[in-house]
Amino acid sequence: MTFDEAARGVAERYQSRPAHYYVRSKLKMDPVTRALHELGEKEPFGTVVDVACGRGQVALLLRTLGLATSVTGFDWDAGKVTNANLAARGLDAVHFHAADVREAVLPQADTVLLVDILHYLTREEQDALLVRSARAARGRVIVRDVDPDQGATSLLTHGWEWVTTTLGYNRGARVSPRSFAEITAVLEAEGLTVSRELCSARGMSNVLLVARRA
Ligand SMILES: C[S@@+](CC[C@H](N)C(=O)[O-])C[C@H]1O[C@@H](n2cnc3c(N)ncnc32)[C@H](O)[C@@H]1O
Repeated sequence: MTFDEAARGVAERYQSRPAHYYVRSKLKMDPVTRALHELGEKEPFGTVVDVACGRGQVALLLRTLGLATSVTGFDWDAGKVTNANLAARGLDAVHFHAADVREAVLPQADTVLLVDILHYLTREEQDALLVRSARAARGRVIVRDVDPDQGATSLLTHGWEWVTTTLGYNRGARVSPRSFAEITAVLEAEGLTVSRELCSARGMSNVLLVARRA
């Protein structure tokens, strides 16, 4: 199955029109989904924990493409979790539940995904989540977030996040992007080897970190 076929199939799973259109455009426009597809084609993700999974479209895409053997996703936004569970009907080994990332126990998994969640947390909460993720991951921790060190594009990305959070589109306590050098240092201190690539729509400054257990 091609990426485009899988993305269309995932979007069709969302019955509510706003969720359907959101997921359709997110899977099409956000480069993180194609980047994950490429990474998973080279080396499948195995069992996956999707931290702050939102509407669950990344998890459903990975299962639909056969790049994950199971996915457990959680988010504190109960409405999104309900949408995710409705969309997952009929697909096995996919589970979504409501939980706060600052308190949730992360189950052991081959891959832990932290896609666009770190900047909603304080520095201390980010460090704690990175350490818990590193300890839960048998293989990889994959982080996609705003890189604050990329000048004007960082400001634009930061501003966009502020808008979506303020409008209530994403529930987040704050927007505090963290230097990727600092994120890397926390993961390396846990024994992971980190590589980095730009994973951003034009004009934005998102970066993907792949931290791997040796
Ligand atoms: C920008 S969205 C990203 C969602 C998803 N990872 C994706 O790629 O579509 C950020 C998500 O983080 C969730 N979130 C923010 N703070 C959280 C917290 N403390 N616990 C759980 N989820 C949280 C929001 O509800 C939102 O769904």
